[in-house]
Amino acid sequence: MVTKAVEFIKSKITGDFEIGIILGSGLGTLGEKIDNPQYVDYADIPNFPVSTAPGHVGRFIFGTLNGKKVMCMQGRIHLYEGYEVQNVVMPIRVMKMMGVKKLIVTNAAGGINESFDVGDIMVITDHINFTGKNCLIGKNDDCFGVRFPDMSFGYSPELSKVAFKCAERLNMNLRQGVYIGCTGPSYETPAEIRAFRIMGADAVGMSTVQEVIAANHCGIDVLGFSLISNKAAGLSGERLTEEEVLTIGRQKSEEMQTLITEIVGEI
Ligand code: HPA
Repeated sequence: MVTKAVEFIKSKITGDFEIGIILGSGLGTLGEKIDNPQYVDYADIPNFPVSTAPGHVGRFIFGTLNGKKVMCMQGRIHLYEGYEVQNVVMPIRVMKMMGVKKLIVTNAAGGINESFDVGDIMVITDHINFTGKNCLIGKNDDCFGVRFPDMSFGYSPELSKVAFKCAERLNMNLRQGVYIGCTGPSYETPAEIRAFRIMGADAVGMSTVQEVIAANHCGIDVLGFSLISNKAAGLSGERLTEEEVLTIGRQKSEEMQTLITEIVGEI
């Protein structure tokens, strides 16, 4: 399944791409910073899932960012779209076969940690997979990795260090914390958010955890960022809307772009 997709991409794009980037809700404009871009629409790739989520374009961008060859997903695949978990992580395996060794994942998330403000950027230090699924269930594909991959360093401490160093240089303030991944598409209830806080989560979203499991399985180092687009359910007294998530994404995307561009130059 993955091989066919990769063969198709390689028929259009040549070269190895060392860094993969996944752009989350409202953050897709980073794709515009990529030099000499070449685009491949998901819809054209054999066997490839198409992202239907709002704020997600649905294509790969191949090119150069700050001197490094990058492969960028402008739009990701979510469980709530109805895809099987194997489809959600297929892009990660495609990235692996295109040469990717380091992956930068971004997402929009609700802030559970009450010291977080809307607009904060959180470096993900670890995650809680609350989706009830695991992309590695089923026959293990030994070509990608082992049956029981370790997740102790699921988010690379070395890459996080680089992120903090770059943020300091740019005079930007970063938070850090644990991301809890749910399937959505309903937002969480206030009771769930209270439970998640007790479990040790700082931010909640509907993506990322499966991608990070697949990346660790196949030996790709991960750096993750959550843009805190809203306070999680029950914390602000307001209703949650998708519009605010996308709006904050657009407002902060310039800052995220600057940070990611700087980091890409260093890793
Ligand atoms: N919950 C889940 N996913 C999200 C949220 C949230 O509050 N904000 C942005 N994505």
